[in-house]
Amino acid sequence: MEVITFTKDTVLSDVHVHTQQKRHLMVRLNRVGQPVFQTHFKILWQNSNLKSASEDCVIITDNEDTEKQCEEELLVFKAPKLCDMQTIESFLDEDGDLEVQRRPQSPSDRDNTKDYARDVVCPTILTIGSEGQIEEEKCENNTDVIKIEHTMATPLEDVGKQIWRGAFILADYILSQQDLFRGCTALELGAGTGFTSIIMATVAKTVYCTDVGDDLLEMCERNVSLNRFFMEQAGGQIKVKELDWLKNEFGTDPENPYSWTDDDISHFYDETTVIFAADVFYDDDLTDALFKTLSRVTQSLRSNCIIYLSMERRYNFTLRYMDITCDAYNHFRNCLNNFETRNGKQRWTAQEIKLMFPQFFIYEREHLELWKITATPLT
Ligand SMILES: C[S@@+](CC[C@H](N)C(=O)[O-])C[C@H]1O[C@@H](n2cnc3c(N)ncnc32)[C@H](O)[C@@H]1O
Repeated sequence: MEVITFTKDTVLSDVHVHTQQKRHLMVRLNRVGQPVFQTHFKILWQNSNLKSASEDCVIITDNEDTEKQCEEELLVFKAPKLCDMQTIESFLDEDGDLEVQRRPQSPSDRDNTKDYARDVVCPTILTIGSEGQIEEEKCENNTDVIKIEHTMATPLEDVGKQIWRGAFILADYILSQQDLFRGCTALELGAGTGFTSIIMATVAKTVYCTDVGDDLLEMCERNVSLNRFFMEQAGGQIKVKELDWLKNEFGTDPENPYSWTDDDISHFYDETTVIFAADVFYDDDLTDALFKTLSRVTQSLRSNCIIYLSMERRYNFTLRYMDITCDAYNHFRNCLNNFETRNGKQRWTAQEIKLMFPQFFIYEREHLELWKITATPLT
């Protein structure tokens, strides 16, 4: 497929924006006929003992390890090295100004500027094998690479089939604060492709990875399988389940492969101490439903619970105000305030987490936020 066109009523996550210009094959069509792609996301483990990539000066350099792993067929992005002050000095000009090496502007520039290539994501180039099936020979079970199947541009109701930057910020937080989550049972709401649940399952014991829609949940389940070795290494497991914020109950229909068994439900209420959700605040009605779900679920848990919510502040010009506004975000903040002041038998304490933790994935942190809510019963 040479050119992918997007119709005006579809949305495309900026996580995937850069993949469209690359030569790549889709892996399959999903059951509603949408092309599904597979992208590899490299985890930059070397950043684990460094400060925030977004806060510090980032100097993009070549990375030899990455280079070795990735030969021509696999366009894995180069990992940036964050430099200490001494190294930074070597990039200062005679007046003391920092000489920033800029990202190449176009694919053709990129070829000519190999030394500081920095692509946001890395589509895997898959090959057609002798039997005609799609093969992928490199990076098999590589503990540095998460493989995610996703679609590229979707109508709004299918946004969960793409990965959003909020998923990266939560994943970064989990990887940088592993002790907070080690051995826990956790619930993800609106998990989409399952990316953040997969990261969580590298430290947690059980992750209930939830969303709505058979097609989406099927994709999510495939991603869990693709990355199973990650979880097996750590002893974690993911259970992909349907949890619709617009319904008051867990689905228990035995005909539905993503429904909850009685054992799941009792295990969930007995053990869950962490709930998380990435980029789920984009529609006011859904935001209301999500807060109600959070309130309902946390009130029934046996233990206190911490909720982590990431989001992107999206600015739009609105005719109503004739100005640029951030309506979905403002609605989120109003809901948060309301639930903090008045929430049945619980006390919610919300706190914004500063984005000072290391960056394990390459993306822009601009306009992203991460919130932590502690939910405790009122005595
Ligand atoms: C913008 S996507 C975020 C997906 C993923 N968390 C990420 O950051 O990549 C919003 C997610 O909320 C889910 N969602 C929307 N309405 C929902 C509902 N009523 N119940 C459960 N999930 C819902 C969507 O299916 C989608 O996966």
